[in-house]
Amino acid sequence: MATEKTTDTNGKYKHPQLASSPFGVEMIGIGSCVPDSVVTNDDIATLVETSNDWIVTRTGIEERRVVSGDLGVADLAIGAAREALLSAGIDGSEIDFIICATSTPDTIYPATSCQVQNAIGAKNAAGFDMALACTGFAMGLVIAQQFIRTGMRKKVLVIGADVHSHYTDWTDRNTCILFGDGAGAAILSATEGTDYFHANDLHLDGSKGMELTLYTNTENCPLVDPKTPVNTYVYMNGREVFKFAVGVVPESIRLVLDQADMTMDDVDYVILHQANIRIMQAMSEKLGIPEEKLIVNLQRYGNTSAATIPIALNEAVLSGRIKPGDKLVTCGFGAGLAWVSNVFTWTHVDQRLPEDLKAKVSKNLEKVK
Ligand code: UT7
Repeated sequence: MATEKTTDTNGKYKHPQLASSPFGVEMIGIGSCVPDSVVTNDDIATLVETSNDWIVTRTGIEERRVVSGDLGVADLAIGAAREALLSAGIDGSEIDFIICATSTPDTIYPATSCQVQNAIGAKNAAGFDMALACTGFAMGLVIAQQFIRTGMRKKVLVIGADVHSHYTDWTDRNTCILFGDGAGAAILSATEGTDYFHANDLHLDGSKGMELTLYTNTENCPLVDPKTPVNTYVYMNGREVFKFAVGVVPESIRLVLDQADMTMDDVDYVILHQANIRIMQAMSEKLGIPEEKLIVNLQRYGNTSAATIPIALNEAVLSGRIKPGDKLVTCGFGAGLAWVSNVFTWTHVDQRLPEDLKAKVSKNLEKVK
């Protein structure tokens, strides 16, 4: 783990990181789950005045998955958690903490993490839900690291899950083209000492919070103050959120790399929150990220909010693109406004890989461990 620094290369203040701990952290499992129903851009053009061409050109999105019937966020979160357990090759009873990042829960209580705990048989786990929209998974990774480094927990399941289709105004072309439903999950585990999570960078800017909102029902008691229910759909000022993201995220990634004593040359892959291909391209340009290092899958899923990073990571690991020893940067950003960047080394041989691929990627592990 990087040593503590209080200023970055430009002399700006940096938040201290935990300088040393007897426990290191590594990611030992990854999984994802998306609903079966596919909605294409042409399908959306039957609801609002838009076109496949406009959506692809302005966002990069070609299709997204949406839930149907009784399927909800908890089902997707459970599906992703089960995949992560298979990836790690461990049983649910080994998980001792669950963090579920979701801003679109089926129920405000019980927390989604409780439903996951029961479904995967994590009988030794505590946990909680966290609403930080698209930044939730990246923040969940930070919280999990702290639980492990302090020695309080050994195996933490971090989930990012959202079902925005339940909160979308399907007559608003500014937002209904963007979101998709999905969940991703990762398992972070204590190591004997070596820390494979190298640095994190965390921020909030609540002054711009109203640019991207989703209200809960705030009807007062009719005896004291009858009022019209608020509109509980996603509202977004797309241009403002776009500008914010391209403005702050590159700086955050520079800071987190500096904290980890790394440069972009040391990084193998970057997984940015999959909001818009133009946002990712603008950030890549500012940071000098070559195209082959950028992992992009939003064309198939749209913006799945807290789930974009783990879904993309899961796909890249399963395809053999990300291998043990690869240095990764992940960055979540969005409503809040909030943004969090992480740097870590992928150290795990995924147990779901076919034997030949497992043998191949195991060779890389010898170089890191
Ligand atoms: O995950 C949380 C973080 N979210 C984000 O990062 C999203 C950030 N924002 C964006 O991705 C983009 O701002 C959008 C994709 C939402 C919109 O793209 P844009 O290039 O910023 O378009 P715009 O809002 O500036 O609109 C340009 C034009 C407008 O027409 P006029 O005023 O130029 O005549 C819009 O009315 O495009 C029109 N427009 C559309 N046309 C066809 C807006 N939405 C659509 C649409 N189809 N769906």
